[in-house]
Amino acid sequence: MNSNGRPTGTFIATKEHRRFVEFASAVRKHRYIGLCYGAAGVGKTLSARRYAHWDLAEPLLEDRRRRDPGDADIRAALARSRTAFYTPAIFATVRDLRINLTARIGHVELDIDEHLHRDEKGWIVDSDGLVEMLIFDEAERLSLTALEFIRDIFDRTGVGVILIGMPGMEKRLSRYPQFYSRVGFAHQYRPLAGDELSFVLTRHWRSLGLDLDEADFTDTQAIATIARITGGNFRLLQRLFVQIDRILKINDLSVVTEEVVAATRTALVVGVT
Ligand SMILES: Nc1ncnc2c1ncn2[C@@H]1O[C@H](COP(=O)(O)OP(=O)(O)OP(=O)(O)O)[C@@H](O)[C@H]1O
Ligand SMILES: [Mg+2]
Repeated sequence: MNSNGRPTGTFIATKEHRRFVEFASAVRKHRYIGLCYGAAGVGKTLSARRYAHWDLAEPLLEDRRRRDPGDADIRAALARSRTAFYTPAIFATVRDLRINLTARIGHVELDIDEHLHRDEKGWIVDSDGLVEMLIFDEAERLSLTALEFIRDIFDRTGVGVILIGMPGMEKRLSRYPQFYSRVGFAHQYRPLAGDELSFVLTRHWRSLGLDLDEADFTDTQAIATIARITGGNFRLLQRLFVQIDRILKINDLSVVTEEVVAATRTALVVGVT
């Protein structure tokens, strides 16, 4: 389950995820501002949350009074990633951002500090600077003033910054030269393709209790159709397979044919490019 309570299934460490990890590590190491852009549903948010260990950390950060035996491991994970993940709320003011982001960074720093000095008494020494990177998801929501605020944090503290958004984000940002001139990297997050798409499809196939045989013409044809419809987009694949499962069950079928795939298509809103 993710923070929205939606089931997310098993995370697949794809090549794109590994590329994202490399990109994030470089931004963190060199303390740049990095932009990560890619179509809706390709997996940007999941990769970033994974990098920041955010599925683990979020419950701890949201409930500062909780005491759980697993908390020490979460603090250790935060001490490894040194990253705070932040999703700006829609219509949030800069004041909201300032308050929430400052609190978020402060909490992550305290947790890292607690991990680093866990054997000492009175471990809160000076936790400033323990966070080395900030990741902003849904960066389109940031106003010009919010970007100014982030630039100020970047300049003052030397923290690395990643903004995640849709293609076109870099164009919008280029209208703000002071921010844009500090951007060191732009990273495109791409959809699944080739062998990797087949790998993910095979997993989906198995989750339906079926086997995929690439030497079988019907399977190969169905795969080609799915690849074409989804363009290797993770979210679309997920949805398509929910529909395939439904149609197989209703019609008491056990083979995913091109026709089955075509039938699911009508139930999907495929508007993603
Ligand atoms: N590495 C992965 N392993 C397993 N499932 C994944 C992976 N990446 C993405 N998914 C699936 O695809 C869905 C969409 O991923 P995600 O929310 O990260 O996309 P996004 O690029 O952030 O999209 P948006 O631009 O709309 O925010 C996830 O909910 C999940 O079901
Ligand atoms: Mg996202």
